[in-house]
Formats: sequence, structure tokens, C-alpha cells
Amino acid sequence: MHISVVGSGYVGLVAGACFADLGHEIILVDNDQLKLSALKSGAVPIHENFLPELVARHRGKRLNFSGDLSEAVRASSAIFIAVGTPATDQGDADLSYVESVAREVAGAINGYKVVVEKSTVPVYTSNWIRTVMSRNGAAPDSFDVASNPEFLREGTAVTDFLYPDRIVLGADHERCASLLREIYQPLTSGDYYRRQHAIPKPDRAHIPPTLLVTSAKSAELIKHASNAFLAMKVSFINAVASICESVGADVEQVRQGIGSDSRIGPRFLNPGIGYGGSCFPKDLAAFRAVARECGYDFRLLDEVIRINEEQRHLFLRKVRSALWTLKGKHLGVLGLAFKGGTDDIRESPAILLIQTLLQEGCSVAAYDPAATERAREVLSSKVEFASSPYEAAAGADALLILTEWDEFATLDLHRLYSKLQYPIVVDGRNLYDPQIMTAHGFTYYSVGRQTIPPESQVVAAAAAGRKSKPKNR
Ligand code: UDX
Repeated sequence: MHISVVGSGYVGLVAGACFADLGHEIILVDNDQLKLSALKSGAVPIHENFLPELVARHRGKRLNFSGDLSEAVRASSAIFIAVGTPATDQGDADLSYVESVAREVAGAINGYKVVVEKSTVPVYTSNWIRTVMSRNGAAPDSFDVASNPEFLREGTAVTDFLYPDRIVLGADHERCASLLREIYQPLTSGDYYRRQHAIPKPDRAHIPPTLLVTSAKSAELIKHASNAFLAMKVSFINAVASICESVGADVEQVRQGIGSDSRIGPRFLNPGIGYGGSCFPKDLAAFRAVARECGYDFRLLDEVIRINEEQRHLFLRKVRSALWTLKGKHLGVLGLAFKGGTDDIRESPAILLIQTLLQEGCSVAAYDPAATERAREVLSSKVEFASSPYEAAAGADALLILTEWDEFATLDLHRLYSKLQYPIVVDGRNLYDPQIMTAHGFTYYSVGRQTIPPESQVVAAAAAGRKSKPKNR
């Protein structure tokens, strides 16, 4: 199948490379000439597992890059729109890029085409695309508009695409649904998974994936409702964590207890400093706005968003309670990305917290395995960027863990202890067992679990014959 994918951001680039791996002929269209020439020369601008392999495998063969949308439309049976839908000041999605693509597609139509929304868009967008295309001269029987939402997580986007839990095809007409079915046939038939060079199967893969054919409007809602539900799970466990702290319970035990109920499930129940990223914050605001426009006051979403913001304030309060005053304190920070496994810092709670700490007069030395370059662009020059976790910890009054990178969960605790000015760790991602941290001499604060008071630590350290802190930098 000849397919155009418009927009070479996370979604477009991953979708284009994966469609090529399924065996389709792809033209990835973008109007950013710099990005295009980088892609044409083999650069992969995002940190995404398996993406460099796929681009190298198909670039110049089944995966080509172009700035000419009209030519790409003429050469394709399906056009996937994967352009940005940034939030406006009011929180709804700015669909102007989608609209301008629809207009240009209409002008280039030369036979039946399926125009597919891949960007996350509000319900009714498919109607609007149809209207804009008709207004711009496309004959009604020359195209259909479908919605095929993506459920890609950054860091695992390629395997999420190729091994999805479900594929949702929102198509209002059978001819359009059957063309989309054909595109995904290598996955739904299981053929792809038998190929020798298939991207390896991740844990928990659902093979073959469930195929759901729905109306375009239902598909649009599935996407927003899925992200809102996941964000709600995170805010729910964060709220439970706060109660655990007040009553002296342990949120990890509570999480295990509730997550073992198969109706709830253990995933997406990790407490922390709140969700971030390019999707949840934007999609919740957009879903809230869509609901309001449709006459439903979805106040549950306000609460999900409020709890998420409060989570950062609670973390800051913890840092304060560990250090008393913040002005003049030097902090080591582990993590800049909005979650582990990505270099993306959009809406990262870590960045927002660092900005607040700088305003409070702290100095910060930060380390992240992938996001340093991006963070450098948004953080003030006051932040020092370290080249290892231990360098970030060196001489710090406390160490803050802000992102759930695997490598932060396996630090050499003796080495860490020897680097810090004071052995205080404030862990916003619950990466360590409090008993183990205490046994290593740290005063360890985490989320939804009890902190062993520093006084009993001194006694414990003395009993263990450890040299006492503080020491000179
Ligand atoms: C999300 C959706 O998962 C994906 O289906 C959609 O297509 C895009 O948005 P992504 O933004 O890449 O993907 O990140 P995700 O892994 O979902 O994490 C979102 C945020 O929630 C991160 O900040 C993460 O740290 C936080 N999170 C996640 C928690 O705090 N606790 C959890 O248990 C899970």
C-alpha cells in the first residue's frame, strides 16, 4: 500500500517507520526543511528504542521523506495526518495545522483516498476535516475520513505500534474500513510476528492484537478517554499516597493490594511527583474543553489535574522538611525527563521542580542519561549538568530523585553516601526500599511511605560504627 504520513514528529516518524516495516511504501511529509534534510541524511531526531534500526532498514527504500504534500497525496491511497495539535491558552487543541493539511489534501486529490487522523484530536475533528475538504473542492465520493488513534508511549513507541493491545479503526464506511484493515493486516493476521527480522516482542504483548472497528467519533473519544483514565489512575494512587503518609501506612503495600484485583490491575499505579509529558497534560485539558463544549461538565478531570499539580507542591514540602530552609542549599538532582526511557522534557515535573528550587535560591547539579541537552535549552545557566549520578551528588546537601530511570534504582549506595555532604535522599519515584536506605545511613524520604526520623538514624549509624556526617565538601 502507498501511504503518506504528514508530520514527522514522534507519532509521524514512528508510524512511518513501522508502516514501512510492515511492508508498505511510505512518504513522510514535513514542511520543516531542516528536519527533512536531517532525516534524509539518516539522522533520527528523537530518542526511541528500535527507531534508528527501522529508519536505517527502510530509508531511501520503502521510507522516503518529502516536503511536497500534493505530490505525496497523488502517490498514496491513504494519508495519515500526524501533525501537532498544541494546546491553546484556553486548553483546547489548536487544529489549525490539521485544517491546513486537509485543505492541501483536497486540492491534490486524484482518485479515492482515505484521510486518517492519527494526531490526538477532539471528537468532531473527522467531521471538520470532511467539511474543509468538501469546501476546498474534493468530491464527496473521492475520499473518506477515518480516525486511527495511536497509543504510543515515548521510549517504547515502536513496540507499542507493532505489538499494540488493540488497533482502533474509526471508519464510517466499509470501503474505508477495509482499506485500513488491509494496512494493519500484517499485524492482525500475525504474519509480521513470524518474520525473521520482526522487531522483538516485548513482555506482555497481545498477539495478534485486537482489532476494533468503530465509528470515527467513537475512535476519537477512545483516545481522549484512554489518556484521561490513565492519568486518573496516576492521580488516584498519588491521592492514596498522601493519605498513607498521614496515617502511617505504606503506599507500596496498598498499591500491591489494590493492583492485585484484576479489575484494577497493577500497572499505572506508581505514585510519584505526578504525570507529565506531551500527552497527558494536553489531552486532559483538551478533553475537558471538548466535554464542556458538548454540554458536559467533566469536573472529575479538574480533580485529576489538581491532584497532579499538588503532587509537586507536596514533594517540595518534603524537601523543605528535610532541609528546613532552601535558600543557599546545594541540591543534587537525578532526572530531567518527564519519565524514564526518554529524552523528552515537555511538561516534565522534574523541570518544573528545578525551576521552583532555583527561584527559592537553591543551586542545582543535575544528571539525566538522555535529557540533558534538551534541559539545557530551558533551564537557567545556574544549573550545573553532571555526567554521572555520583557527580550530581558530590557535595550536595541532599539528593532528589525526580525521574524513574532504571539506572537510578541501582546506584552504588556506599559510593553515593560518600559523595553527599549530608546523606539525605528525597525520592519522588519510590525507587528504593526505605529499610535498605536507612541501613545505608541515609535519611530517606519517599512518596506515601514513612520517613525514619533523622534522630533514630544517628543512633542506627553509631550502632553500625559508621563515620558520622556532615563532612567537608
Ligand atoms: C501516554 C500514554 O501512555 C500513551 O498511550 C499515549 O499515546 C501518549 O501518552 P507517554 O506520555 O509516553 O504516553 O507516557 P506514559 O508512560 O504513559 O507516562 C505518562 C506520565 O505518567 C509520566 O510522567 C510518568 O512518569 C507518569 N506515571 C506513569 C506515573 O507517575 N505513574 C505511573 O504508574 C505511570
